[in-house]
Amino acid sequence: MKQHIAIDGPAGAGKSTVARLLARRLGYLYLDTGAFYRAVTLHFLELGLEKEDLERGEIARFLQSVRIDICPGDETRVFLNGRDVSRDIRTPEVDALVSYVAKAPEVRDFLREVQRHIALSQPSVVEGRDIGTVILPEADLKVFLTALPEVRARRRWQELALRGKKVDYKVVLKNVLERDSIDSQRSCAPLQQAQDAVVVDTSHLTVEEVVEKLYILATEGNHGGSCGHLFRIL
Ligand code: CDP
Repeated sequence: MKQHIAIDGPAGAGKSTVARLLARRLGYLYLDTGAFYRAVTLHFLELGLEKEDLERGEIARFLQSVRIDICPGDETRVFLNGRDVSRDIRTPEVDALVSYVAKAPEVRDFLREVQRHIALSQPSVVEGRDIGTVILPEADLKVFLTALPEVRARRRWQELALRGKKVDYKVVLKNVLERDSIDSQRSCAPLQQAQDAVVVDTSHLTVEEVVEKLYILATEGNHGGSCGHLFRIL
């Protein structure tokens, strides 16, 4: 059985939904690392910071005043200075700033070890942008989930609509493309496919089909039960 599964990919590729269902089916811990970056972003927004402030290199100072607690589960719950912000981190305002926050090396240094520590604490399915490359380079299975930009933007738009957030589809598409571009071009831990990752294009697949595919990848090589070696006796 693969013990640590890394799922990376661009915005809206279906990582969260698929990783959560896969973890549930395997009985593994599910960890959404995007929630960490979103929590730091919400903190900066509440301090009134903007993109330009982040470029002035004062990030380390602003990080000193924050406490973030993470409670992994079926949803990765996040607490900012003791307050449950699990819903507040999923707004268009956070979407608009998060990639600028996540490209700062100070922020990544601040979050790297804790993410790795939680991910290795038990069998896990971990999703993000740099899981297979930086957080869990030794993962037993690495998946790079992708989909056409228009499909990803439509999914994100539907998700926001379900939460009662009415945003123009074109605005969502622009944000998805902008985040992809910043995430993949940053110098520190960019979004990229690990060399040993399996690429799955979810554009024309249902959630169930993707989960099934990943479940087969995660369990292939199992011979039933949890034995480590097979000894040939006949
Ligand atoms: O759900 P979606 O894929 O749209 O985003 P997310 O996983 O919540 O991540 C939000 C943002 O956090 C991404 O656009 C990245 O800028 C950043 N992120 C990252 O840099 N590294 C990770 N491991 C996870 C997220």
